[in-house]
Formats: sequence, structure tokens, C-alpha cells
Amino acid sequence: DWTTGNVIEEQVEAIRAMVGNKRAICGLSGGVDSAVAAALVQKAIGSQLTCVYVDHGLMRKGETEQVEKDFVAATGVQLKVVDAQERFLTALAGVTDPEEKRKIIGREFIRVFEQAQAEIVAEAPGDQPVEFLVQGTLYPDVVESGGGTGTANIKSHHNVGGLPEDLEFKLIEPLRKLFKDEVRMVGQELGLPDEIVQRQPFPGPGLGIRIVGEVTKERLDLLREADAIAREELTAAGLDRDIWQCPVVLLADVRSVGVQGDGRTYGHPIVLRPVSSEDAMTADWSRLPYDVLAKISTRITNEVRDVNRVVLDVTSKPPGTIEWE
Ligand code: XMP
Repeated sequence: DWTTGNVIEEQVEAIRAMVGNKRAICGLSGGVDSAVAAALVQKAIGSQLTCVYVDHGLMRKGETEQVEKDFVAATGVQLKVVDAQERFLTALAGVTDPEEKRKIIGREFIRVFEQAQAEIVAEAPGDQPVEFLVQGTLYPDVVESGGGTGTANIKSHHNVGGLPEDLEFKLIEPLRKLFKDEVRMVGQELGLPDEIVQRQPFPGPGLGIRIVGEVTKERLDLLREADAIAREELTAAGLDRDIWQCPVVLLADVRSVGVQGDGRTYGHPIVLRPVSSEDAMTADWSRLPYDVLAKISTRITNEVRDVNRVVLDVTSKPPGTIEWE
């Protein structure tokens, strides 16, 4: 019988048998999959697992704190947080091409992750070696990549550029047979809070690919504010389960004329991209209630400096992708 209880029991046993007394690490992205995978492995091997969270400064408002507090509180996991904001900003300076941004973010992520792994080993040199790497690979990921095993099925698209192949970890992938909704049920059963389990998808490169133009600290702060407002209002309207996700995009290289307060402004547009989807392969734009859109628009233009226009993306996928970059 398929029950979340059985899945957890089976995986806990398998993971214990596999890992023995060795150690494992798991990169946390803030997303559902890595969180549930980590919680499952934590249940199996406890302090033999260390989670690594790379704060690249491209996260949304409150996300780093959510990992630091809620996730640790719910699981008791050992967490290593690496503040890499400067490093990512420096690497992204002057870059506007989307693919180049993605490659840079992936590369920097790998470097920080490797460094963290070396530190974990150095901090407890007498301990068992770190031999295992936990991945939140789901069944659809396995299928899409041809059912292969090992690092070959880690798509750069889904893992912030992937992990270096020469790390030579043995992989633990406890969610390999599960679909997203099943992963959510397992997470719930493991006691993870709703804010983590019901999270909508968010891309690994984060807000870095939601700024059309160069990524700077100021622009990230501005987009973080606009995104927080949109999320707050969508949640307040009870729409979180109706939409797949709603990217909020800053057109940093575009300016338009507005009138705010006493005078003329020359600010940036914010794009709302609410979509409905089953699996993100195809998507349709969500017909959000006008009053919700109006509220989001009013609040963003009132509360976010340098933004004087909010526009709605009414493109399906295809032809548009969900993210703008
Ligand atoms: P697109 O833009 O290709 O996005 O229609 C499809 C889904 O994938 C998410 N996405 C990513 N997720 N790393 C991720 O983990 C990435 O680099 C990435 N790029 C896009 C996107 O948010 C949507 O859910």
C-alpha cells in the first residue's frame, strides 16, 4: 500500500543501510524538494547529515530566514549558512545576457558549495568522511532525463547550474519515485511547516533572472519589495493554490514616464507573470480577479521607489516561458 508512512519507513531504512557511519551533505535551495529530501535523510541519519544553504543574495524577502529558523526548528538539522552575497554580486556585475547570468550563478554556487564541503571536513577532521550527497530529484526529473542514474540526470535548469561531476559523491535521492504532490505529503508527514511544504516553485538562480538588465544590489532590493507585496496580496486573496507561481519581474533597462505626487517621474515597470500549470512544461496566464491586480498595482507603485508602472503578462507557454530569462 502506498502511504506516506510506508514511503518514509522504507526510505529511512534504505538510507541507513547505505550510509552506515559515514557522513552526508545536502544543499538546501529553500524549495520543497531539497527540504523534504533533507528532512527524510535527517530522520534516517541525524547528525551525520549537514545541510548547506548558500545565501547568494538573490533570494526573496524572508526566504533565508525561513530556512534558518523554520526549517531548522522543524527538523533539528545541522545547518551551515554561507553568506556569499558579495561574491555573487561581484561576479554578476555588468552582465545582462540571461544565459551568461545563469552560467555565472551556477559556477559561483558550485565554488561556494565545494568550499563549504571542505570546511565541514576541516571542522571535524577525525570524523567519518563525507561520502554522500543528498539530492531532491523527483520522478519527473528522472523521466525527463531519460531515466539515467548518477549526476547525468542533474539538469542545470533545476539545480542552480548542477553540481561538479568531479566531486565524486555517492548520491542519495530519496524522492526519485515520487511526484510533487507526493513529496508535499511526505514533507507534511515529516512535520515540515506549510510555508515550506506548500511553497510554489522558485528558480535556483532566483531574482537574478527576474531583473531584465544588470543585477545590482539596489535593483534586487527594489524587486524584493515588489515581489513581497505581490505575494502578500495573492496569499491574502486565497489564490496561492490556484496559481502555479507568479514571477515578478523588474524591467531595469526600461523607463517610462509617470506622474506621482506632485510631479513627473521616469521610473521602471514591474511585470506580473501569474501562471496556471500542471508541470511547468506548458502554462497559461492566470485570470486573476481585477480587484486583486488593482490592489497589487496600487501598492507596488505607492510603496516601491522608482517603480511607476505595473503591467500584466498575458502570454501562455509556449510561446513565452514562465520566467522572463
Ligand atoms: P520556464 O521559464 O523554463 O520555467 O518556463 C519552468 C519552471 O522552471 C522554473 N525554473 C527553474 N527552476 N532552476 C530551477 O530550479 C532554474 O534555473 C530554473 N529556471 C526556471 C521556473 O520557475 C518554472 O517553474
